[in-house]
Amino acid sequence: MSVPAEVTALAEGSDHLFPCFSRADVSFTQGDGAWLHGADGGRYLDFATGIAVTGLGHSHPELVDILVRQGMKLWHVSNAVRIPEQEELAGLLCEKTFADRIFFNNSGAEAIETAIKTARRHQFVSGSPARYRIVTFEGGFHGRTLATIAAGGRPKYLEGFGPPTAGFDTVPFGDLDALARACTATTAAVLLEPIQGESGIRSMSAYDLERVREICDRQGALLILDEVQTGIGRTGHFFAYQATSVAPDILAAAKGLGNGFPVAACLATEKVAAGMTPGTHGSTFGGNPLAMAVASKVVRLVGNEAFLVDVRRKGERLRAGLEALAAEYSEAFAEVRGEGLLLGLRCVPPVAVVATAARANGLLSVVAGDNVLRLLPPLIISDAEIEEGLMRLRQVGRALSSREIAGVSVGGNKRV
Ligand SMILES: Cc1ncc(COP(=O)(O)O)c(C=O)c1O
Repeated sequence: MSVPAEVTALAEGSDHLFPCFSRADVSFTQGDGAWLHGADGGRYLDFATGIAVTGLGHSHPELVDILVRQGMKLWHVSNAVRIPEQEELAGLLCEKTFADRIFFNNSGAEAIETAIKTARRHQFVSGSPARYRIVTFEGGFHGRTLATIAAGGRPKYLEGFGPPTAGFDTVPFGDLDALARACTATTAAVLLEPIQGESGIRSMSAYDLERVREICDRQGALLILDEVQTGIGRTGHFFAYQATSVAPDILAAAKGLGNGFPVAACLATEKVAAGMTPGTHGSTFGGNPLAMAVASKVVRLVGNEAFLVDVRRKGERLRAGLEALAAEYSEAFAEVRGEGLLLGLRCVPPVAVVATAARANGLLSVVAGDNVLRLLPPLIISDAEIEEGLMRLRQVGRALSSREIAGVSVGGNKRV
């Protein structure tokens, strides 16, 4: 079989990139709603969304329009001056959440770093400088900076990077007795994802989240939610915590916030943010007018109850279809997990094999821990596209169940 010229060029070009990603040998030339056009001529249904980023799909006309219009007006000024676009987005986020104050970043890891600094600083200015430790749950993923790999605590991400950044304690996922024991007079905050994405779509129940809040209150610790992946409508709520009676003190958002434009935010209450006085934190790019214009439009489009109700409906439809698939092809699929359009399908064969077969069948997905295939369609997906995705997965399930996987059909990957 001859190798397409674009693929050869991709392999040669990647010689100059850091080898830290195991990239699939596929690239895309254009995106349109829930679809990506491959350089190989294939048309792919995008249930990966750049790992829960392009919630409003590719080339959303209102986002393209705002990006172009803002691009012609003003891209960047520093945070040494007032930025009205930033004030507008901060106001919008505060109106829709528990927060009173926002700091804008460029990535999820940076928003988590801001959250950690904000929690520690609050304890410091409140007369408890010894309270600097952060308690996290095993399996959590909070980014790839030195502090966020320490927060995640996973040996495979820490190995070879010197002593882990101090001040993090990790307890087993869901073990709230261990959490209560780990929260001491030196704890600044508890940091957790309402649904762990990387480690296989593992949800914390509303009941457990309420108990975590109680433990924090009892022990004088703050609650930081990492909603980098679960936020901006992904679970069918603007933020996942809004489906519970719990409100955090600090929250990190990123991914879907810019629909692919790099932007993130750390949200906090007035009381907690008050410690971040002038000079304590900063960012050159964070909150520049270009990012703010795009993110404000995203928040207006997603943070609307009718839109979110529809995400929940679509999530239930996709989940029901996945459960039917798991029942039909139990040799391939073992369990469905998740909320809204943050869904996971635990696989029987190695998940990498399933993801590769799905891609060969024109369906993009993301692998996660616990042998789970993450399915993260855009929030704007149509019912017909959900059915199309299920049909492509059914073909994979059928091939895996009949152990035909080496020759799985690629009929669904139409050439355009
Ligand atoms: C829950 C969670 N937190 C933090 C991050 C880090 O975000 P970024 O890659 O934008 O730094 C991620 C990225 O996947 C994530 O899923």
